[in-house]
Amino acid sequence: MRLPQFFAVAIFSALAFIPAATRAAEPGRTISVTRLGLIPLPRHVIAYAALWHIPVTVRITATDSAQRNVAHFLQSFLKKRGIAAKLVSNGPAQIMLSTTAADTQLGREGYRLEVTGNGAMFSANSGHGLFYALQTFEQLFNPVQGTDNAIHQVAITDWPRYRWRGMLLDCSRHFFPTAVIRRFIRLAAHYKMNIFHWHLTDDQGWRVQIPQYPKLTQIGAWRPGSELDGNPNDISHKRYGGFYTDAQIQQIVAYARRRYVTIVPEIDIPGHCTAALAAYPWLAAAKGPFHVRIRWGVSNVPLSPARRTFRFLDAVFGYLTRLFPGHYIHLGGDEVSRRALQVWAHNPIAARLMRQRHWTVERLHDYFPAKMAQYLAAKGRRAVVWDDVPAKNLPHNTIIECWNSSSIVTKDASLGHDVIVAECNRLYLNYCQGDPRFEPHAIVPAITIRQVYHFNPSALLPKALRSRLLGIEACLWSERIATARHLFYQALPREMAFAEIAWTPLKKQYYRGFVHRTSRQYLWLSTAHYNFRMPPPSIRCRGGRATLTRVPERNLVVCHTASNHEMVQMMEPVPGAAIYYTRSGAIPTVHALRYRKPFAILVGTGKRQLISSIAITPSGASSAPSRMMVECNGH
Ligand code: ACM
Repeated sequence: MRLPQFFAVAIFSALAFIPAATRAAEPGRTISVTRLGLIPLPRHVIAYAALWHIPVTVRITATDSAQRNVAHFLQSFLKKRGIAAKLVSNGPAQIMLSTTAADTQLGREGYRLEVTGNGAMFSANSGHGLFYALQTFEQLFNPVQGTDNAIHQVAITDWPRYRWRGMLLDCSRHFFPTAVIRRFIRLAAHYKMNIFHWHLTDDQGWRVQIPQYPKLTQIGAWRPGSELDGNPNDISHKRYGGFYTDAQIQQIVAYARRRYVTIVPEIDIPGHCTAALAAYPWLAAAKGPFHVRIRWGVSNVPLSPARRTFRFLDAVFGYLTRLFPGHYIHLGGDEVSRRALQVWAHNPIAARLMRQRHWTVERLHDYFPAKMAQYLAAKGRRAVVWDDVPAKNLPHNTIIECWNSSSIVTKDASLGHDVIVAECNRLYLNYCQGDPRFEPHAIVPAITIRQVYHFNPSALLPKALRSRLLGIEACLWSERIATARHLFYQALPREMAFAEIAWTPLKKQYYRGFVHRTSRQYLWLSTAHYNFRMPPPSIRCRGGRATLTRVPERNLVVCHTASNHEMVQMMEPVPGAAIYYTRSGAIPTVHALRYRKPFAILVGTGKRQLISSIAITPSGASSAPSRMMVECNGH
């Protein structure tokens, strides 16, 4: 649709849904959607070669509070690009926001975005959709500062694949200041995630104040030492910790809400509670004293099922519901060890309970979350628990978050529970991203960006149960992550792959296209000062007679060739990065050979040669090495 220079709301609203083919003037030639570099890829996109050259002053219409909320973000985005935007409630405008799409297909989070030669129209059923239209709109701009404000004309209709698109951050094992939490949420929202799962308590620290139990943060928020740089073998014995005040939490909640992100706070019970036991030893099913743990490890002393423990839990979860207005509260429930079960077996209160109710010791594991899920339901909230908790005794509306084996997903869904998939082998972003020898401290084995991208959570469930799958969550456990720099390094770029599998329909997912689109995102991440793992340069043989075997977890490609003479081609992972390489296999530095164009190598029959390369950005950031072993079999 070609719009007049200025157009009125009513006219635009009426025209917005006229199919492009029937409109008077067409924007002309289309271009590949990949060129736009959008992540997550929207469902339906038409991209035109023609541009909208945005003038230096524009008017934005916004009439209700949701529109104004999104319009304020838009205004500050445009301001950073040198465009002065005025918000108006009616009259002509170049950018129009509408929340009256009245389109059931779009649902609450879908949107349409139309950019023509004269203006842009964002339409949705709610502020959520409008906000996602804005994220797409922002991605149409060249992220490099100082570039002009011309964007491709587009017609986009988009809505998400999953309802629950979550990011977990563990702030117990390491404490992250509120500025980092805000950046974490901002990044998630940029990629259209809508849940921030905040892991607030564990054996290594309790991070939220509960007025009736002040020692939780006076004692429980501090451990007598920590892993230096997240290295479990290098312990500093300096006091470490911190907690969030009510005021800080309220600010974070408001920050997230404006970005349509729901916070799901987690208080982990009945295991992983050592920080609480250090503060109030009477909560334990065994005799103390207890100390907030320096190191990570499965805790062996669970909560006691005494009445006063439940009075404590009522106070904690009651206060949590006042601090966090979102619908969901996470009760943890993971990793109650065999030794912990034995502790219950020897605890007189637990033993009496088991005798009275004819329970085994395993049944005590779900007793805690089941009781607290009922308590939360009475307050109009919905509980989430990890899949370690046996589901059959939980209230039916309890959501199960599955991180263990994929078979549990089907089992729990068939028991009538809604499920979230957070499969640890695919969605734990604290696992390293490539060969651990070249990575910072992280859990092994590697989970590569390609593996995240190729994960299809829906396939874990039979078709009949798929409506039970609310969505997916990526987790950043922080046992080995001590700094914000390392945190974003672990998250990125895999968070982009995760965002795409969470939002984009399966049939539109295409890995090579995704990799192309990441180029533009790396530029955005750099300008927004997010640290990320720069992927190693891609490296391959170009002779046509070679077969390549990729071993991404070792940053290695093996090139089997019949020819003694192969052309080696490399490609930088991030625009503007320089590639350096060695032919000896040694890890290159900036003093190594600079790659400029494909080069020939000669490998004798029956011989092999290892080529190693790295990429370095103009700002000095270096990638891990990528290596190619060329093996000539001479046939
Ligand atoms: C978990 O990783 N223990 C949920």
